[in-house]
Amino acid sequence: MLPPFAIAWPHDPPQFIQLYQHNAAAVAQELLQGLSAPQAFTSPKYLYDALGSRLFEAITELPEYDLTRTEAQLMRLHSADMALHMPAGACWIDLGAGNCEKAGRMLGPLQAGRYVAVDISVDFVRQALDSLQRQHPDLAMAGLGTDFSSGLELPDALGLDSAQARVLFYPGSSIGNFTPDQALGFLQSLHRACGTAMGSGLLIGVDLLKDAAELEAAYDDALGVTAAFDLNLLLHINRLVGSNFVVRDWRHLSRFNAEQSRVEMHLQARHAVQVQWPGGERLFAAGETIHTENACKWTLPNFEALLHAAGFAQTRAWTDPAQRFAVLWATA
Ligand code: AVI
Repeated sequence: MLPPFAIAWPHDPPQFIQLYQHNAAAVAQELLQGLSAPQAFTSPKYLYDALGSRLFEAITELPEYDLTRTEAQLMRLHSADMALHMPAGACWIDLGAGNCEKAGRMLGPLQAGRYVAVDISVDFVRQALDSLQRQHPDLAMAGLGTDFSSGLELPDALGLDSAQARVLFYPGSSIGNFTPDQALGFLQSLHRACGTAMGSGLLIGVDLLKDAAELEAAYDDALGVTAAFDLNLLLHINRLVGSNFVVRDWRHLSRFNAEQSRVEMHLQARHAVQVQWPGGERLFAAGETIHTENACKWTLPNFEALLHAAGFAQTRAWTDPAQRFAVLWATA
């Protein structure tokens, strides 16, 4: 018999597995290689230190950046229809889960059977997962800390049931931050991670191609939050490689590249800038840039073709009336 203050807990508390281990030398090498290239570049993942993550949260509330709100509205409006197309009792695998809010809203309506929150560090999901577990005491939950940016691998330690359908959940149009070639490889890895159970698939959010001026404003807002998000990268790089970037030497740019169908974020040197780091340096001429992010914008037919090329069978899409954003369910 339980003592009077104990709560009956149908499941063990969430299980946490941390696979990714920070390798400072490898990170520094990757960054310095990009910074030394003729067109300097950095991976967008370095935009997200603690401050960068908070600035990104603020971006999602800006009037110019309606991507997150439109996606949330689509999920809310169409969850009943989604439930008709997607398997009940599935294991939801939430990629880039963070505060677990987006998936948290879907687990009930879509009758999830298990929930796995994936992020680079389990520390990012620990609190959210604990509180989600209290809201869904009947649902088995786990947190997985892994860098899935170059492909998703699900460890045996998760003990996934090969007979249980899987819903891979990748909202937020983060797929847009890959080049089309990278996106294809990444989606192929998601297709493999769907496993072999009947009914598995991928639920993904994609920002669609729209007017260039609108897109540029979404990545260069009037308040300067996106500029701060981009410039903060320099402080993060200073900590990671020991360089001496000075934020005031740089300005943020957002450009729509029509040929590549993507918004590019760049940091541009305001004047000639000499940057040093242990063992090296680079002179950036006035106007030279560091390319910090791509946000590819897909048309719906092009994105469906990409899903099929990655191995997915059928797709079902939900869009807003202005076709600004799409949520797609792609069966494995
Ligand atoms: C996370 N990712 C989908 C955002 C985007 O829209 O590409 C990152 C972002 N960069 C600037 N604003 C938002």
